[in-house]
Amino acid sequence: MIALFRVFHVFHVFHVFHVFHVRAKLAAFFVAGLAVLSIASLVALAAAPVQADAEPSANRQAELNNLLTQDCGSCHGLTLAGGLGPSLQAHALAGKPTEYIAATILFGRPGTAMPPWRPFLSDTEAAWLANLLKQPAP
Ligand code: HEC
Repeated sequence: MIALFRVFHVFHVFHVFHVFHVRAKLAAFFVAGLAVLSIASLVALAAAPVQADAEPSANRQAELNNLLTQDCGSCHGLTLAGGLGPSLQAHALAGKPTEYIAATILFGRPGTAMPPWRPFLSDTEAAWLANLLKQPAP
């Protein structure tokens, strides 16, 4: 009787170990999978150009165009040729990097009338606007 119990006991211990082993293997696979996925997304991020993380939607682009004429235009002139603020036409911004323009839009110019637009615009949207301003008028 005791012998029989022993056999069962040994079998039971082995079974528990086996389950644990399978679990550990699954966990290892899972962790490895996650690592591969996160490395892949890091590589994708690094490969993407600064402002190319998804354009604003078509609707949002229309809103941004409106903002440009209505709000920016109130200081920079209706045609952005300059007013209280300097000209934002492509020729005027020619020597200025897109990142610099996007940063000016996001953070404004402290001590001048140029306000920060960060509360209203994402990085992507500011970059999109900066790119738009850099395009020569059609
Ligand atoms: C209340 C007035 C005002 C509004 C509104 C305004 N700006 Fe300005 N902006 C200015 C002034 C003034 C300057 C010049 C700051 C300085 O002296 O450096 C300026 C500077 C800039 C510059 C830097 C230009 C350069 O040649 O370096 C950019 C780019 C710009 N504004 C974009 C925008 C955009 C885009 C908007 C709308 C989202 C906007 N501004 C709205 C007043 C304004």
